[in-house]
Amino acid sequence: MSVKDALLGSLESGDGFVSGAWLAARLGVSRAAVWKQVALLRSQGYVIESIRGKGYKLLGRPDTVTERELGRHLVTELFGRRLIAVATTGSTNDLAADAARGGAPEGTVVIAEAQTAGRGRLGRAWQSEPGLNLYMSVLLRPELGPAEAPRLSLLAGVAVAEALETEGLEVAIKWPNDVLVGRRKIAGILTEMEAEADRVRAVVVGIGVNLNSTEDDFLPELRDKATSVLIESGRRADRPAFAARLLESFERHYRNFSRQGLAAVAADWNRRSCLDGQRVRVAQAGTTVEGLCVGIDSDGALLVKQGDGEPRRVVAGDVSLEGYYES
Ligand code: BTN
Repeated sequence: MSVKDALLGSLESGDGFVSGAWLAARLGVSRAAVWKQVALLRSQGYVIESIRGKGYKLLGRPDTVTERELGRHLVTELFGRRLIAVATTGSTNDLAADAARGGAPEGTVVIAEAQTAGRGRLGRAWQSEPGLNLYMSVLLRPELGPAEAPRLSLLAGVAVAEALETEGLEVAIKWPNDVLVGRRKIAGILTEMEAEADRVRAVVVGIGVNLNSTEDDFLPELRDKATSVLIESGRRADRPAFAARLLESFERHYRNFSRQGLAAVAADWNRRSCLDGQRVRVAQAGTTVEGLCVGIDSDGALLVKQGDGEPRRVVAGDVSLEGYYES
């Protein structure tokens, strides 16, 4: 363990001021070295009070998803136990795909404070301002065929919804994986994969959640379509704690899915779907399917009823629904 981490550990376990002399002896370094590490911690967002004759006291922590800050909240076995946390990257999905090609294990998580080329579904951009929200990709290596991989987005959608509900929000899911609050989009999921003909090598589930953006932080064209935890609840979300809750929920659903398939999560998904019983229009490459949405099937396809016959299965597309955010 580094001197910095050992120092932080000592400050965390002390419930008042901890003297510089005691810290120096405990860590086996000089008092000047203690002071230098305190300065380093402060530069990383830790608020440390120092009073001559009394020592140091930890007053505040950074709202940054570092290994240490995430680790304080993480209760998973696998997801997030290997973390790649960076200040800026193009897209966390690309970084996770690179890690996958380099042999990174299942459950590896990539988190960035900001993305310079964050992307959404259907080639859209994903606004990724620094320090406000969650931009995260989870690397999975499931035993699935390529056509089955999109089902993982449904699990992620439920996990995001559950994490947002612990912030006191009422959440809806719009197939396949837009997460909405009050008809505005609060989170999106972009699932990408590396596959052979009949086997998935790695799946990257990219998750963007608007946590602490204000309306002014959104690009003008998004202001009436997007929302955040802060806008909806009036409270800032603790980003490391939120990320840990989301990973806990995602891991739990992933384990159940691995054993029982999509049936394990279908009820949790359907309960939050804002499409059931609604008239929908699904735009696909070259065609449009219109009809009454009657849920999803056991493969995660949207079921759209167009007449008296069996509902039509829609496996991909962009859904519009009167009054809702047009993604
Ligand atoms: C969508 O709703 O269109 C999906 C948005 C997905 C955004 C996330 S942010 C983390 C990860 N990295 C990306 O470039 N995109 C996903």
